[in-house]
Amino acid sequence: MLVTGAGRGIGLAIARDFARFGAFVYLNDVDAQRAERSRILLEESGYKVASAPGDVADPEQVAQIFDAIDRRHGRIDVLINNAGIEPVSSILDHSFEDWQRTINTNLTAAFLCTQQAGRRMRAQKKGSIINIASIAGKSQPLYLRSAYAASKAGLVGFTKEAAREFAAYGIRVNAVCPGVIITPMTEHLRNTPDQMARWRQEIPLKRLGRPEEVSSLCLWLASDAASYVTGVAWHVDGGKNMA
Ligand SMILES: NC(=O)c1ccc[n+]([C@@H]2O[C@H](COP(=O)([O-])OP(=O)(O)OC[C@H]3O[C@@H](n4cnc5c(N)ncnc54)[C@H](O)[C@@H]3O)[C@@H](O)[C@H]2O)c1
Repeated sequence: MLVTGAGRGIGLAIARDFARFGAFVYLNDVDAQRAERSRILLEESGYKVASAPGDVADPEQVAQIFDAIDRRHGRIDVLINNAGIEPVSSILDHSFEDWQRTINTNLTAAFLCTQQAGRRMRAQKKGSIINIASIAGKSQPLYLRSAYAASKAGLVGFTKEAAREFAAYGIRVNAVCPGVIITPMTEHLRNTPDQMARWRQEIPLKRLGRPEEVSSLCLWLASDAASYVTGVAWHVDGGKNMA
C-alpha cells in the first residue's frame, strides 16, 4: 500500500496502523527526511515499510513512485491520498501561487495517484482508495481557508466520481473527513486559546481527535469488512457534523 504525506501526523498514524496489521507500506512525503524518519521509526518496530519520497502533485514523480512499487511488489492493494497543506489567508489577499499549490497538493495529487493506482487495481480486479478530505470540504466552513475548503470539496466530489467509475473493477473509493486532529498541521490553532475554547464548546465529544482515530476508520474502510461500502465521505469529528 501507499500512504502519501506519511512523514508525520495522520499519514504516519495510518502507515503505522496498517503496518501493524501486516501491510507492506510505502511511505511517501515531499520532505525526504520526514519519509526517511518514518521508515526508520516503523522499521525499528519490526514493520515492513519502504520510503517513497516525492512530490505527489508532480506527474513525473508520481509515475516514478509507482514504477518503484511495480519493481518491488508488482501490485498495490490500498492507496491513501493523505498529503495536504492548509494555507491561511483571506480571499482578498490570497496569492495565486498559494491557491494553485493548495489545489495541486490537496486535489490534483489525489487524481494523479488514483489514476496510477486505479490502472493497477483494475488489472487486479480489487483495491481500496481512501481520500483524506476534511469537514471543510463537506459540511463545515472554516475561516480564511478558501483554497483548502475548495480543494477538499473537490476531493469529496472526485471520490464519488471515482467510486462510481471504479465499481465495475472491484475498486472501492471512500473519503474521510476529519475535524480538528492533534497533528503539526493544527499546532497554530491549538496555540490560540480563544479559538480552541470555541472549538471544544462546539464538539459534542468535547475534545480534539487523535490521528489514530482517523487511521482506525481507514483500516475498516480498506478491509473486506467494508466490502459493500463505496463513494461515502465519512466524518471523524467528535460529532460536530452529524449529517
Ligand atoms: N490535522 C487536522 O486537523 C486535519 C483535519 C482535516 C483534514 N486533515 C487532512 O489530513 C491530511 C494530513 O494532515 P496532517 O494534520 O497530518 O498534516 P501534517 O502537515 O502534519 O502532515 C502532512 C504531510 O504531508 C506532506 N506533504 C505536503 N505536501 C506534499 C506533497 N506535495 N507530496 C507529498 N507529501 C506532501 C508534508 O510534508 C507533511 O509531512 C491532510 O490532507 C489534511 O488536510 C487534517
